[in-house]
Amino acid sequence: MRKPFVAGNWKMHGSKAMIGSLISALRAGAEQIKGVDVAVCPPSLYIQFAGDMLLESQIKVGAQNVASVAGQGALTGEVSVDMVQDLGCQYVIVGHSERRSIFDETDEVVAAKVGVVLEAGLTPILCVGETLEQREAGVTQDVVAGQIGVVLQKLGVSAFNNIVIAYEPVWAIGTGKVATPEQAQSVHAFIRSLIANEDSKIASNLIIQYGGSVKPENAAILFSQPDIDGGLIGGASLDAGDFLAICKAAGEACSE
Ligand code: 13P
Repeated sequence: MRKPFVAGNWKMHGSKAMIGSLISALRAGAEQIKGVDVAVCPPSLYIQFAGDMLLESQIKVGAQNVASVAGQGALTGEVSVDMVQDLGCQYVIVGHSERRSIFDETDEVVAAKVGVVLEAGLTPILCVGETLEQREAGVTQDVVAGQIGVVLQKLGVSAFNNIVIAYEPVWAIGTGKVATPEQAQSVHAFIRSLIANEDSKIASNLIIQYGGSVKPENAAILFSQPDIDGGLIGGASLDAGDFLAICKAAGEACSE
């Protein structure tokens, strides 16, 4: 039985004042978090601040990105996995579609980042998903298989013991256009089958989140699909009430 996992991707949002009130509200409503693992991923600059406010709570902290090399070095403007680990992060989002499209991250760079995150003992949340043109061209499975295939090839199936996959159709991110439960379930099942081809036990334990316009109104139906194990939440994670409702829906759907 997989325990669902809901993570908030705050993207480039927040200030000390905003994060202060968001986390106070999350902590005040924490009784809604049952039977689900929960994390929030603030901008790197605010990881320490958010982490301090979340001390001794059940909400963990993650980063949104790290450099593709670990340690220290002459890489102006970059943040390494060792640094976010030092600040208490347990998760790192890797290969978000915004990083792939806006910052030109290739599958190879994404796989390298997954590798450094795993080596540091943190859990990568590996994002995959197709664009609207790719879906319309009928190549969704090829795209997702390619994105995961590079990681499989580089790191082997055993790496997926410690990887969370987030399926985020690009056309559903920030658009309000959520994938139907059937569309999402079908890709989630396909992703699990890709891993099962290599190792069925690792596949059956693999957490696969759905991301893309998840809201309190659609969370329960998405999370009740057999291969959807929680969500990676953008916009709705900036509202404590919405995020807590989504966490609650995950805990309830997956305990049925
Ligand atoms: P939205 O929930 O705002 O669509 O964003 C999803 C996402 O990109 C999470 O990583």
